[in-house]
Amino acid sequence: MVELIVLTCASGKQCSQLIPLLYNESSLYRLRLIVNSKASYKKLSEQFPEAETVQVDLLDVGQCSQILDRASTIYYVSPTFQPHEVQFGLNIIDAAIAEARKPQSRFSHFILSSVLHPEISKLLNHDRKRLIEEYLCESTLKYTILQPSHFADNAIGRLLALRDSTDPVFIAAHDPEVAFSFSCIQDHAEISAKVIRERRNHFYATYQLVSTWPMKYSEYVQSVGAVIGKTIEIKQLQYEETVAMYCKLVFGAQEVDQTLRDGPERLLLYYSKRGIIGNPGVLEWLLGRPGTTPAQLAKAMLEKF
Ligand SMILES: NC(=O)c1ccc[n+]([C@@H]2O[C@H](COP(=O)([O-])OP(=O)(O)OC[C@H]3O[C@@H](n4cnc5c(N)ncnc54)[C@H](OP(=O)(O)O)[C@@H]3O)[C@@H](O)[C@H]2O)c1
Repeated sequence: MVELIVLTCASGKQCSQLIPLLYNESSLYRLRLIVNSKASYKKLSEQFPEAETVQVDLLDVGQCSQILDRASTIYYVSPTFQPHEVQFGLNIIDAAIAEARKPQSRFSHFILSSVLHPEISKLLNHDRKRLIEEYLCESTLKYTILQPSHFADNAIGRLLALRDSTDPVFIAAHDPEVAFSFSCIQDHAEISAKVIRERRNHFYATYQLVSTWPMKYSEYVQSVGAVIGKTIEIKQLQYEETVAMYCKLVFGAQEVDQTLRDGPERLLLYYSKRGIIGNPGVLEWLLGRPGTTPAQLAKAMLEKF
């Protein structure tokens, strides 16, 4: 029997690479793609006509319970920097518990795509996920938690765009001498698909999923520079300018309510002093190969161009 898999933030970076890995397995899976905006509803309905695309307000408990109806699995990606992020997550977990308790329920697996080190309380986007993880662990549901770090993909488009520049400059949003372990979205998507397919092997596991050992942001930039044959100058923006840039990127406007601004403000302050670091061993074990380096990602993207 074909299983129904629900994916949230379906228009986002993570699901954009996961959906194609599952979409063509129509003898096994049917996908329900959860979006928030009308624009994403239109885009995904057209791009994936065989899937069911649903526009949902995650604050609405009734809507949350409907999206899990007859589902076997939810792949829950949590909306970025939303002040109600915890409430969204708790609503979906409650909906999953209710679905699992229905007679003849097929609900079997709650997969949370969280973040590396949710225990970092100085970062709102981590701290909020800590509370979601805690609620999930105590929920009686069969779960798996995936913890990616900062995605190498975030800045790679901007770096590759410098390939024809005679004077390439990368504008850094934080101190480029701070080290991060980077995650690669394709690695994360492959492991996510594996966890969905293999299900019970991954029950009650929490996986720290990073693709690289810690490397300074400047090393990341220069490793991509080497792929395009450039030495890239790095200029760091002033803090306030960076916050405005981030708000524009995440919320679509530079001037936003302080409750929205709090997330990017704290993140950029933190990233200029401390990075998010981890060990790539777990990812390598799950993938059966080493994680993708930023240089390999850059090469693969150039080949696609
Ligand atoms: N970026 C990183 O380096 C990184 C690293 C590790 C973990 N993460 C985590 O990844 C998550 C984001 O995933 P992503 O990068 O795949 O997404 P993304 O590319 O940042 O896209 C944002 C997503 O959030 C959805 N969204 C925004 N407001 C919403 C709301 N009020 N209700 C429901 N959905 C809403 C959007 O849906 P619509 O298009 O329908 O509006 C969109 O799918 C965040 O929790 C973030 O903390 C990010």
